Amino acid sequence: MNNNFVKKLRIDWENINSDSYLHDIKSIRTNEGIDFNKKITFFVGENGSGKSTLLEAIAVNYGFNPEGGSINYNFETENTHSILSDNMILEKGYRAEDGFFLRAESFYNLASYVDSVSLDLSEYGDKSLHKQSHGESFLSLICNRFRGNGLYILDEPEAALSPQRQLTLISKIKELAREGSQFIIVTHSPIILGIDESEIYSFDNDEISKIDYEDTEAYKITKLFLHDRDRMIKYL
Ligand SMILES: Nc1ncnc2c1ncn2[C@@H]1O[C@H](COP(=O)(O)OP(=O)(O)O)[C@@H](O)[C@H]1O
Ligand SMILES: [Mg+2]
Repeated sequence: MNNNFVKKLRIDWENINSDSYLHDIKSIRTNEGIDFNKKITFFVGENGSGKSTLLEAIAVNYGFNPEGGSINYNFETENTHSILSDNMILEKGYRAEDGFFLRAESFYNLASYVDSVSLDLSEYGDKSLHKQSHGESFLSLICNRFRGNGLYILDEPEAALSPQRQLTLISKIKELAREGSQFIIVTHSPIILGIDESEIYSFDNDEISKIDYEDTEAYKITKLFLHDRDRMIKYL
């Protein structure tokens, strides 16, 4: 049974101005809808294929601040962020009790925000996020702030993390998902993508389509590289 917080999405293009750049993002434009069947959904694809655009619209539609951070159902979004999210129809289940939207670029701003409102730092490892390394602060955020029964939307969480810590992240994600949380994650990491019991959507070839782990570029290219590094580098 699907008891996800976000079960399906589709986009109503009628009210999206035809000169909007959104019409040029082919993967999103041609898509008829995405089902979220598993607790963990990955978006993969080449740079510029539309992953962050769609992820952010999902987050904003659900009630997250477009700059990232906790859920705030009363947040008024700015126009620039809301065109796609305003025209997105999300089929929702129960309301998530907790949530977090982590943008790829805005972790620094998030750290400033946490410092500025001097939230309870025990939730973040008892230390200002600015005084921790990127990876440390990111993991302390997840381990301390993600309380469970939440919707967690993460854009390239691997950016901060060593391979060892990506494994720690996997175990945390699996634990939270087992207890009922839902994750939607953009990643290029062949390690993070390897989580079992997930569904992977590719944004390549101007469409959004479900693919297997072994068919992702992250997997294939990493495998080729590790298998025959010398030849691959020569070939480049
Ligand atoms: N505000 C914007 N105005 C115009 N084009 C944009 C804007 N935001 C993103 N794009 C374009 O939309 C495409 C998809 O971007 P993005 O969703 O960030 O890709 P990805 O996250 O898959 O790397 C890119 O070609 C990007 O340049
Ligand atoms: Mg992106």
